[in-house]
Amino acid sequence: MKALTTVSLLALALFSSNSQAADATRGTQLHNEQCMGCHASRLGYGNSGNDIYTRENRRVTTLAGLQKQVDRCKNNLQIVWFDEDVADVAEYLNATFYHFGQE
Ligand code: HEC
Repeated sequence: MKALTTVSLLALALFSSNSQAADATRGTQLHNEQCMGCHASRLGYGNSGNDIYTRENRRVTTLAGLQKQVDRCKNNLQIVWFDEDVADVAEYLNATFYHFGQE
């Protein structure tokens, strides 16, 4: 009985820490679905391209700024995302292109 309780507490702890961390895999999926129309040429399709994320004079310079810009592009497109979705996409972009330290 005691062991069972320990196991379920552990599972609970794992589950809740998991649900708080931004999920880059889900972010990739959301980005592919909604953002590739304008940000995709590096992968061989689309027009202006992911180059925007790596261009020399890119506008985004911090992780907070990245989240803000994801939110801004999302709002421009009138996409309905939860804050969690914005965080996931920012996490994906950071892991793939920006590489800001965790702030
Ligand atoms: C209608 C075309 C379009 C779509 C679709 C679009 N964007 Fe953008 N995005 C732009 C343009 C144009 C800029 C450049 C703005 C500038 O240079 O001031 C930009 C800039 C950005 C930047 C900043 C790049 C930098 O300079 O560091 C990020 C991050 C970004 N977009 C994320 C997204 C995300 C996430 C989505 C999907 C929700 C998305 N964009 C969808 C047009 C688009």
